[in-house]
Amino acid sequence: MTDMLVRLYELPDLCGYTKKMEQIGVRVRRPNVWERPLLMDWVKEYFSLSWALECETAFAVRPPSCFIAVKYDVLIGFACYDCTRLNFFGPTGVADYARGKGVGTMLLLSCLHTMKDGGYAYGIIGGVGPAEFYVKAVDAIIIEGSSPGIYERLTYHS
Ligand SMILES: CC(C)(COP(=O)(O)OP(=O)(O)OC[C@H]1O[C@@H](n2cnc3c(N)ncnc32)[C@H](O)[C@@H]1OP(=O)(O)O)[C@@H](O)C(=O)NCCC(=O)NCCS
Repeated sequence: MTDMLVRLYELPDLCGYTKKMEQIGVRVRRPNVWERPLLMDWVKEYFSLSWALECETAFAVRPPSCFIAVKYDVLIGFACYDCTRLNFFGPTGVADYARGKGVGTMLLLSCLHTMKDGGYAYGIIGGVGPAEFYVKAVDAIIIEGSSPGIYERLTYHS
């Protein structure tokens, strides 16, 4: 698990992806506060408890520092920023049946544009899995020496 760096001042425009989402009936927006339990349960079920806890952190600020993707009132994806650490993007995930349609990129760009508008020049993708996805979407680059980085001191229940 290594971290990646993104140049926020050279982000792709959101317009094309917004249109694409409209065409497939997907809305990417901030969650409402009452959607917090639903989001946490969903992330825990689909991904992990630790990701759900990071999502919960998003609700410590207003508006929440995350975006969700919704299709026909069904949650199909999420992405957080400023949760794991300040200036970090993630965690993020899309339901397996909804992948490959641009939803992950739309969620990523929604967060990164918000970070840019908030004053950050660079964004950090924390502990990446699919590096290729981030290279393709936002030309992210690996931060040398960042593994295990902040994830060194993970603790688990036995
Ligand atoms: C990573 C993830 C969020 C991408 O969501 P998605 O909706 O499938 O992404 P997109 O449809 O926007 O994909 C954009 C491009 O990236 C590529 N891509 C997507 N996931 C990829 C992966 N895991 N590895 C390599 N390339 C990937 C797609 O093939 C697509 O390429 P194309 O434009 O040539 O078709 C999704 O695969 C996921 O939830 N994975 C499991 C959780 C995870 O790994 N989260 C990231 C932790 S850092």
